[in-house]
Amino acid sequence: MAKATDETFNGLSGKEWTLLSKNVWDDVSSPREAYQIEHGSTFPLALAERVIRLYSKEGDLVFDPFVGVGTTVIAAAKMERDAIGIELQKKFCDTAKRILDEEKTDLFGQKRSRQAVVCDDCRNLLEYVDRDSVQVTLTSAPYANFSRRDRSRVYKRAISPASDANAKPGAFSIFSEDFGNLGYEEYTEELKKIFKKVFDVTKPGGYCVWVVKDYRDTQSGIPYVSVHSDITNFGVSAGWLHHDLIIWDQNDQRRLMLLGFPNVFYSNQNCAFLVVFRKPERVTA
Ligand SMILES: C[S@@+](CC[C@H](N)C(=O)[O-])C[C@H]1O[C@@H](n2cnc3c(N)ncnc32)[C@H](O)[C@@H]1O
Repeated sequence: MAKATDETFNGLSGKEWTLLSKNVWDDVSSPREAYQIEHGSTFPLALAERVIRLYSKEGDLVFDPFVGVGTTVIAAAKMERDAIGIELQKKFCDTAKRILDEEKTDLFGQKRSRQAVVCDDCRNLLEYVDRDSVQVTLTSAPYANFSRRDRSRVYKRAISPASDANAKPGAFSIFSEDFGNLGYEEYTEELKKIFKKVFDVTKPGGYCVWVVKDYRDTQSGIPYVSVHSDITNFGVSAGWLHHDLIIWDQNDQRRLMLLGFPNVFYSNQNCAFLVVFRKPERVTA
């Protein structure tokens, strides 16, 4: 990796900045480790590293309110950023802490950055994260219970089930606090509140990146649900600027399905979206 420059907010040189500015990412999917397969809904480490590299520099604070088995904080540790992750399920927290400990133990047994995983409901995030302290949040919330049938079909056809970020169907847990167990209306109301809290803990000019996937459920007469549009609207209603949209190309990960043949043409949903928000430099009350 090239040496970071002090001239830019993220330490990238002009050449690196340009090379990393493609808005379709077809090179971040990767085979999952066993602990990631067990979780079933992780995003790739390479994706987390790319986001952290673009929107922060060494020493900045990275946050993930739905940290799962820790991909965001593990990527932050690799890249010398401080990080806090919150996860509801203890078993996932324990895994994240174990992998993080392995990452932290370098030749001299110490690193310059600090990472923490908190086992709690992320609705309590203001108890753990200071206001105006986060440079970039990277997260992927569980879907509400609305897209399970569609994801179930897609999962069966994944080239490698372990390689697809959001495809494993089924409830994440029996916990009522789990966003994955909420109906769509409650889910949207709760997500809006999380957006507002993440806004409050983010530095002016800081970033927030949500990894989401759209879906369709033609059996229920729903041709297309634009989850990324909903997420964009929730963020904007909480005060965020809609800053960018990046496509995570997953064509290499999925077998093509014959959809709607021969009467209605549908495309295969072989991408996810990174919806990028920015907190204004000056927040007006
Ligand atoms: C899509 S997964 C995130 C996976 C993560 N990006 C990774 O790579 O490991 C969403 C996670 O949110 C957790 N979760 C659900 N409701 C939560 C809540 N209220 N507070 C904190 N975490 C929650 C789930 O247990 C699940 O692990």
